[in-house]
Amino acid sequence: MTAIIIDTDPGQDDAVAILLALAERERLDLRMIGAVAGNVPVRQAALNVLRVCDLAGRPDVPVHAGAASPLLFELETAEFVCGPDGLAGADLPETDRAPTRGHAVEAMVSVLRAAAPASVTLCALGPLTNLALAFRLAPDAMAAVERIVLMGGALGLGNMTPAAEFNAYVDPHAAAVVFGAGLPIVMFNLHTTHQAVPDAADLEAIRAVGNAASRAVLGMMTRPRAGGLGTAGHPMHDPLVIAWLLWPELFQGRDCSVEVETSAGPLRGRTTIDWNNRLKRPPNAFVADRVDARGFFAQLAGSLAKLR
Ligand code: BDR
Ligand code: CA
Repeated sequence: MTAIIIDTDPGQDDAVAILLALAERERLDLRMIGAVAGNVPVRQAALNVLRVCDLAGRPDVPVHAGAASPLLFELETAEFVCGPDGLAGADLPETDRAPTRGHAVEAMVSVLRAAAPASVTLCALGPLTNLALAFRLAPDAMAAVERIVLMGGALGLGNMTPAAEFNAYVDPHAAAVVFGAGLPIVMFNLHTTHQAVPDAADLEAIRAVGNAASRAVLGMMTRPRAGGLGTAGHPMHDPLVIAWLLWPELFQGRDCSVEVETSAGPLRGRTTIDWNNRLKRPPNAFVADRVDARGFFAQLAGSLAKLR
C-alpha cells in the first residue's frame, strides 16, 4: 500500500488522475486532497475535487482548499482550455458539500507530521504553490515525504509559452523551491504527457466500461476543443503521475538535473532539463521521457471499471 497526498487544480486531466487513484484504493492509501489555484481559481478547484469524489462515491476523502494565488506572480488560469468550470465535458452536477475545514497547506503538514519517515508520496498535479508553502512552513514535516511525483515542465517546447509548461509557468518560484528541496522527485513533463493522447480504440475501451465514472472520463476526453494549448486531442498529463505509482513498467526515463527559471521575462517557468548531463550537476529528478500509451489507457479502463 502506498500512502499518497494529491495536490491538484481540476482540470479534466486532474479529474481523471483523481478517479484513477480512487479506483485503486486497494493499492493507494489516499490521505487527503489539496486544491490549488491553477486551471481554475482555488475555490472552483476544491469544488471540482468534491464533484469528482461525489462521482466516485467517496465523501470520506478529506478535501482542503489551499493557496489562492502563486507565491509572487498574479494568478493566470486556463478556462480557455478547461471550460468555464474547469471540467467541461464531464457533465457533473454541482456538489452540495463544502471543503473540509482547514487550509490545504496546514492539512498537508498535519498529515506528514503524523506519518512515519519517508512514508508518504506527494502527487502534484498543478502549480506547486501548496507544496512550496508547506516546505517553508514546516521543514520538519518534509522528513515524512518518500518522494514527490509531479506533472510539470517541458523537455522541449512549452504549452503556455514557447518556453514554459502551464504548471511551471503559473508558479515558477514554487517550482524552484520544490526542485531545490533535496527530496526524490519523479517528473512528468510535456514531452511524455503529450504521448498520452487516447486513440479511437482507447476511447472505445473506456466507453465499454459503461459506468458513470467512465462516461464522465469519455466526455472529458472527447469534448470539442475550445482553444487549447497547441496540442492535438486531449493529453492525459496528470494521470501519468498516478499511473507511475501503479505500473512503473509503462515508463522510461533517466535521472537529470532540472532548474526552473523564475524571471518574469520570456523564459518564465522554463525547466532546463540537463538530459545529456552537460552541466555535470547532481541530478535532482527522475525525468520520464516515454510512456507506453496503449498500455496506460488499457490499465485506466480496467481501473475505471472498479468505480460505479
Ligand atoms: C498541466 O496544466 C494543466 O492544464 C493540466 O491539468 C496539467 O496539469 C499541463 O500543462
Ligand atoms: Ca493539473
